[in-house]
Amino acid sequence: MSSVLGDVLVDGVAHDPGVAAVSVLDIAVQRGYGCFEALRSYGGRPFRLGDHLERLATGAAALRIPLPRREDLEGWVLRVAAGAGDAVIRLIVTGGVDLRSPGVDSRVVVFAEDPGPVPDAYRVQPIAAPWHSTGERYRLTGVKALSYAPNLAATLEARELGFDDALLIGRGGAVLEGPTFSIGWVAGGTIETPSLDLGILASITRSVVMEVAATQGRVVAEVAAGLDRVAEADEVFVMSTVREVAPIVAVGAHSFDPGPVTAALAAAFGALVEAETAR
Ligand SMILES: Cc1ncc(COP(=O)(O)O)c(C=O)c1O
Repeated sequence: MSSVLGDVLVDGVAHDPGVAAVSVLDIAVQRGYGCFEALRSYGGRPFRLGDHLERLATGAAALRIPLPRREDLEGWVLRVAAGAGDAVIRLIVTGGVDLRSPGVDSRVVVFAEDPGPVPDAYRVQPIAAPWHSTGERYRLTGVKALSYAPNLAATLEARELGFDDALLIGRGGAVLEGPTFSIGWVAGGTIETPSLDLGILASITRSVVMEVAATQGRVVAEVAAGLDRVAEADEVFVMSTVREVAPIVAVGAHSFDPGPVTAALAAAFGALVEAETAR
């Protein structure tokens, strides 16, 4: 875990990353039961912490895991962020040690990681995601639950094929999202992005991009679209906390040039981050 910056907080208690631990009996370990967030800190200040804590609270409620008080969660993230500077902050809530009763001895883990070098552009491979709800609602639709094995397996499959990551395609052919990012594209001057109705994660970066696009007078359409629609696009881009806003230059066999709309959105996103995290 060499990319961890500083201590790991477990329920607010600082531990060296080499020894920080949760129980092997935790259903996070046994069943991948729990939820998590990843947020960015810039100069020691978290970006959109409130939005991340709200999404975490929604997910924990769906999983029936009681959370500590919001001010405690906030305090732990602020403490880790202040010590880490520019970082990715990971916030993990485990399910606890009782299969029948989530939340018993549940742990909250917070630590920072070096964001490392982030690529300027991405190449993604469409990968079928038959496990994805693709609009069918169920209790965990849109929850950032710990059980990310299908997403990670899709990433690894795309990498084996020579791409940076996967682009998940739902049953029926709808373009959904990446395993850890949202997607948008520009078609005839309109920005299109898969609709939240498809059961994709309510990405905080995606919603910030929609805010900045509106301030630039750009039209954003939330759509249900197939790969043929993306193939016709002028520009394609990723959106995520870790990647921010960056061009996609290949979707399978289709190539795209990084374009001016993506660049303008990325610049406006950066300016907003700077304004909101300024001292
Ligand atoms: C499946 C999925 N979609 C989209 C995103 C992007 O969300 P955010 O912008 O909140 O980081 C993530 C983030 O990890 C994700 O896991």
